[in-house]
Amino acid sequence: MTKNVSMSKYVKLATLRGVDDFLAAVQQLNLHIPCDQQVLSGNTSPLAQPITVDGLTIGNRFAVQPMEGWDGTPDGKPSELTFRRWRRFGSSGAKLVWGGEAVAVQHDGRANPNQLVLNEDTRDDLARLRDALVEEHRKATGSTDGLVVGLQLTHSGRYSRPKDKPEPRILYRHPILDRRLGLPDDYPVLTDGEIRQIIDSFIRAANLAWQIGFQFVDIKHCHGYLGHEFLSAYTREGDYGGSFENRTRFLREVVQGIRAEADGLRIGVRLSAFDMIPFRPDPETSRPGKPGRGVPEPYEGLLPYRWGFGVNPYHPTEPDLTEPAAFLALLRDMGIRLVNLTAGSPYYNPHIQRPALYPPSDGYQPPEDPLVGVARQMGAVRTLKEQLPELAFVGTAYTYLQEFIPHVAQAAVREGWTDFVGLGRMMLAYPELPRDVLDGRPLQTARLCRTFSDCTTAPRNGLPSGCYPLDEFYKRSPMAEQLRRVKQSPPR
Ligand SMILES: Cc1cc2nc3c(=O)[nH]c(=O)nc-3n(C[C@H](O)[C@H](O)[C@H](O)COP(=O)(O)O)c2cc1C
Ligand code: SF4
Repeated sequence: MTKNVSMSKYVKLATLRGVDDFLAAVQQLNLHIPCDQQVLSGNTSPLAQPITVDGLTIGNRFAVQPMEGWDGTPDGKPSELTFRRWRRFGSSGAKLVWGGEAVAVQHDGRANPNQLVLNEDTRDDLARLRDALVEEHRKATGSTDGLVVGLQLTHSGRYSRPKDKPEPRILYRHPILDRRLGLPDDYPVLTDGEIRQIIDSFIRAANLAWQIGFQFVDIKHCHGYLGHEFLSAYTREGDYGGSFENRTRFLREVVQGIRAEADGLRIGVRLSAFDMIPFRPDPETSRPGKPGRGVPEPYEGLLPYRWGFGVNPYHPTEPDLTEPAAFLALLRDMGIRLVNLTAGSPYYNPHIQRPALYPPSDGYQPPEDPLVGVARQMGAVRTLKEQLPELAFVGTAYTYLQEFIPHVAQAAVREGWTDFVGLGRMMLAYPELPRDVLDGRPLQTARLCRTFSDCTTAPRNGLPSGCYPLDEFYKRSPMAEQLRRVKQSPPR
């Protein structure tokens, strides 16, 4: 965690005395976040209500978000650390496991040399991983009824780093991100032919996922990776860029292929429902080892902004949900029912993607109270759910709510803002939270994720992810000492 006095003006949820204080803070920030005074437990809780989606009955309204660990083997198989994380996901009591973590459909599409890959060589290992999660769920809750487990399939596109150096696979030239990645003017974009090979890999991997027992696959369209980049390929020529029809062709061809090969496998999509122009630490206030507050990259000369999906082209620091709504309508028309909405990208606007009080080592100080980021994501899910009532939505960015997760989650489901409450970082820090809420036990406040961002700082510095501050396993591991040294060493 990197401290800076500028954070002191933001509400520290851990210091609030109760729900009334929280509601006052929300009001003072002029935000709209639903929140119940009393948290219910057992069958009376809105969070305990089963829901049937696409023929699958899902036993409650908690979802485990995909959380990768940068801890697979060089050939893309899970390690003991991966098994441990998935077992903990299973023990959470959440009945929807959205993807486990990002799994690459081919080696050159890995986001790091330790990302999992699904192919003929790894399929048995991934089958064991799923089985371990299911078994742990059974042990923790007494039954696997209503448990639905999917696998997130990805190609990392612009953020591919299959070996120790970045090997970006881009769909179009981006005026800001290309510069940040140091791409020369003649850097190649993926050809339509290469895209068709990647589509084949998605279909092959989905078929394997089906054979080894996953109930759905997520065709990942978020966070700046390849699927997401298609949606903003306004400036690309050829079959996969330009018009809305062309920018969604990748999705349609993947879905068509999966339906032909793995009939019965459900399909879901995790979508960055809106994006924003990339942010950077304010050069005026940054000091060595102390990144300044986040500010948008200068965009004079780039208007209308044509390099982001769900971005207002004339005000690229504002969302525009027109095309995301059209994309969700397309999913509905293709018979897809499971969607998981997230936002932005961890690489270029992390405060949009996962609101946090403390930035990771390569980040910037939060430019807004992180509660604003939570409200922005919750509001987008609410708006899109109103327009697309046939879809079942998983909402994101709840971890920052800490003590107030149960109150807000219950109200959000009860008032129809979302169907599922997705939890990401909290599943690393305190995976039993859903079970504690549903069973009516008080929260174990010492285990609540306080958004210290070590789970991101560690992998940014070549270490596996994990909750180093709060999970005793990581806290006491030799990796924690390495992380401490990295954080103390002068920035590169
Ligand atoms: C360490 C770490 C790993 C993540 N791995 C994935 C991933 O594999 N796939 C994905 O779609 N999102 C991933 N995310 C994003 C989370 O799923 C989630 O969207 C984000 O953390 C915000 O939710 P939260 O506030 O509950 O943490 C990751 C986030 C973190 C911090
Ligand atoms: S999960 Fe742990 S390491 Fe990650 S942000 Fe939360 S407290 Fe920090």
